[in-house]
Amino acid sequence: MGCQMNVYDSYRIAAMLKPMGYSETSSWENADLIILNTCTIRQKAEQKAFSFLGRLGKLKKKNSNLIVAVGGCVAQQEKEQILDRMPVVDLVFGTHALSRLCEHVYHLETCDDRIVDVTMSESVHEPDIPVDVSKPGDVKAFVTIMQGCDNFCTYCVVPYVRGREISRQPDKIIEEIKMLANSNIREITLLGQNVNSYGIKQKLCSFAELIHRVNDIEDIVRIRFTTSHPKDLSDELIDAFGQCHKLCHHIHLPVQAGSDRVLKRMNRKYSRDEYIRKVNRLKAVCPDIAITSDIIVGFPGETKQDFIQTLDLIEKVGYDSLYAFKYSDRPNVPATRFSNKVSEPEKSERLKQLLTLQEKLTLKKHKDMVGTTEQILVEGLSKKQASDSHKQYHWTGRTSTNKAVNFSFPIHHKDNGAPLTGRLVNVKIIKAFSHSLWGKPVDIESERMSSKGDNYHAA
Ligand code: SAH
Ligand code: SF4
Ligand code: F3S
Repeated sequence: MGCQMNVYDSYRIAAMLKPMGYSETSSWENADLIILNTCTIRQKAEQKAFSFLGRLGKLKKKNSNLIVAVGGCVAQQEKEQILDRMPVVDLVFGTHALSRLCEHVYHLETCDDRIVDVTMSESVHEPDIPVDVSKPGDVKAFVTIMQGCDNFCTYCVVPYVRGREISRQPDKIIEEIKMLANSNIREITLLGQNVNSYGIKQKLCSFAELIHRVNDIEDIVRIRFTTSHPKDLSDELIDAFGQCHKLCHHIHLPVQAGSDRVLKRMNRKYSRDEYIRKVNRLKAVCPDIAITSDIIVGFPGETKQDFIQTLDLIEKVGYDSLYAFKYSDRPNVPATRFSNKVSEPEKSERLKQLLTLQEKLTLKKHKDMVGTTEQILVEGLSKKQASDSHKQYHWTGRTSTNKAVNFSFPIHHKDNGAPLTGRLVNVKIIKAFSHSLWGKPVDIESERMSSKGDNYHAA
């Protein structure tokens, strides 16, 4: 559950447990160990975790050896209280306890016990050998480059449940990416709650310098990163969009609100104008850059006027897409104690208005792409597989600007029948939908890292 950093941790957990003899199963009934990696960013996420745990009692009755572990941000927040509330749980491990997970599981395999490990540390635990989180057939992978957050936005639990910001050593990050490249990974997304402040506190290299180093890794063809805090978006990083040819033309730059009054109460440390200036610089360096954002509607004290300013900002920036959330009170964060809470119906109404506006903007962006040719990194066959007799298969991939593109192509083609997964394909965009695009392949990279000369050309 939760953000990409949780996804990355879950992959690491799966990789760490392999040497202990565990492998993944798609059926709950078959599992000897169930690990729930939780999120507590909004109340709903926390409720989802508890309701999932509530459903595990039945499985434990059937299999008394089943071990149930709860990790991640709810574990860090609720600690031993989880054991009281959920009798089914054997292990609670916090966000800094990942490196000790295997020894806890080993203990529980042999002893009838319950364990809580929510100790936080000041340093990043690096395994001696980097953990390969990729699976066969994967084209892209996440790499977490820093943990925690020091920003203390007044609505947010992350600094409390993930601890202080700590960056990983650049050499360790590069070593891990080279290993992933060896496992046929072609696209890397660098992760952190605020990647723009990477390395500053510990005087490592800057985030832009790190990107330059990843750009030099031969088998990696695409680099993405998330999330960027606008206050720390440096000119050096903006310039990297013009200098690093593998850096994708997309930035996720959460604005949260369009009114200076609300931004101040959120403790975001930038103004609306400063944000717009940075967006304009990005567009000047990289004219086709896609910009996406997170927005909270109904922050305590947000007036209709404030909200209109958010709508106005959305139009001014012209976002490619948005994640919008209704404000949710979280334990121990300052905003929970703020007065003038916005009512639930009002929050829902504002969210609806905002999403309607964004849908219109997204569809227009997609329609403007019809007729252009886009380079796609193919991720595999699309889920909506065609059952046709012409051996045409539907493939899916993304543009540099992170838009999903589907197209049809035979699975066996002259090129040794090698599948398209992991290849760069130029696709002419024919149709625009609200969440994806449809196109026709015009130029296919003939093999991994091919010499351009042998490429397939469609008639
Ligand atoms: N570090 C990232 C955000 C991580 S949390 C950043 O600063 O941009 C992901 C998103 O969840 C946030 O951007 C915010 O929009 C939303 N969010 C965080 N706390 C929230 C809360 N209490 N209620 C509603 N949305 C929240
Ligand atoms: Fe939360 Fe703010 Fe840190 Fe993002 S920058 S994780 S919103 S405190
Ligand atoms: Fe959720 Fe924790 Fe990520 S609260 S958003 S899983 S850092």
